[in-house]
Amino acid sequence: MTLVRSVIQGCGSFLPGTPVSNAELAARVETSDDWIVSRTGIRQRYITAEGTNTSDIAREAALQAFAAAGMTAQDIDLIVLATTTPDQTFPATATVLQAQLGMTHGVAFDVQAVCSGFVYALAVADNFLRTGMARAALVVGAEIFTRLLDWNDRTTCVLFGDGAGAVVLKAEPATGSTADRGILASRLHSDGRFHDALYVDGGPSSTRTIGVVHMHGKEVFRHAVENMAAVVHEVLDAAGMTIDQVDWLVPHQANKRILDSTAKKLGLDPARVIVTVDQHANTSAASVPLALSVAVADGRIRKGHVVLMEAMGGGFTWGACLARW
Ligand code: ACO
Repeated sequence: MTLVRSVIQGCGSFLPGTPVSNAELAARVETSDDWIVSRTGIRQRYITAEGTNTSDIAREAALQAFAAAGMTAQDIDLIVLATTTPDQTFPATATVLQAQLGMTHGVAFDVQAVCSGFVYALAVADNFLRTGMARAALVVGAEIFTRLLDWNDRTTCVLFGDGAGAVVLKAEPATGSTADRGILASRLHSDGRFHDALYVDGGPSSTRTIGVVHMHGKEVFRHAVENMAAVVHEVLDAAGMTIDQVDWLVPHQANKRILDSTAKKLGLDPARVIVTVDQHANTSAASVPLALSVAVADGRIRKGHVVLMEAMGGGFTWGACLARW
């Protein structure tokens, strides 16, 4: 079998509505700009208007990614959509997106790993491409996470926002060396013992309701730093590379203090970490592709750069993907 790698052809993103500042939030929740900024680094978030669904914002990000890639939906045969906030319990939001894109061929399905969703989806799509089960893929992280928030719980509602990001991948012949463009290595983990550290208290089989987010913030914080630093080392080892060879770390954007602590633990210059949590808040599965899009658009991430994506979320789930852009 010819060796192939999944090469990122383009990325796109979409932020719904207008930004809502901490001060605006403080008008309806007992909080303050000072508290939110000092504890999390978040300054604003986007909140989707009623009537817009996850598939709608996913489509906008997908169309931008196709334009950047110079490709269309007809050129791909796989959609993997990471979301915790599907349009409906079923069918998969990926199939709604598939129809919106006018695709009647290929395969489309959702991946649920909460904030790690995009990294999981990227690893799944990469495996489809490398084994020849698909030729080209759209990988999307899209969330209307604010629909899961309890606006009376100030410990969680200030942290999250909505958004979507997407990348288009294509299988291309490769040499097997780390000089290849494309995804060089991925590592995924979960540990279900912690499923009740961060969860939504609803679901079709338990309560028949949607539910709202609950979180043990300090426990999440501690595991996030440990797990994300560990999986970064693991994925670098898998590729036979070191942290010095990484041009950009694109972490899940949960909290600026988590980003700083992880960078410090890795001995990584903070200038090489892409930070968007101040502008987007925590958009769960959308945060990594949103951050990628910002850094590609402003010229920081360029062709040939080594980009390390990592995330951790409810479950706990966590993982990392190393790619040469
Ligand atoms: N505004 C004002 N005061 C608040 C708010 C708020 N929004 N939320 C909590 N407080 C108060 C608390 O009531 C408490 O008051 P008290 O001392 O009078 O009882 C005080 O602030 C401190 O509360 P703590 O919960 O101890 O605050 P902490 O310093 O742990 O920060 C935070 C909380 C920001 C959630 C932190 O634990 C954290 O960052 N955890 C990581 C969680 C995270 O990022 N989750 C995202 C999802 S998981 C992921 O994406 C990886």
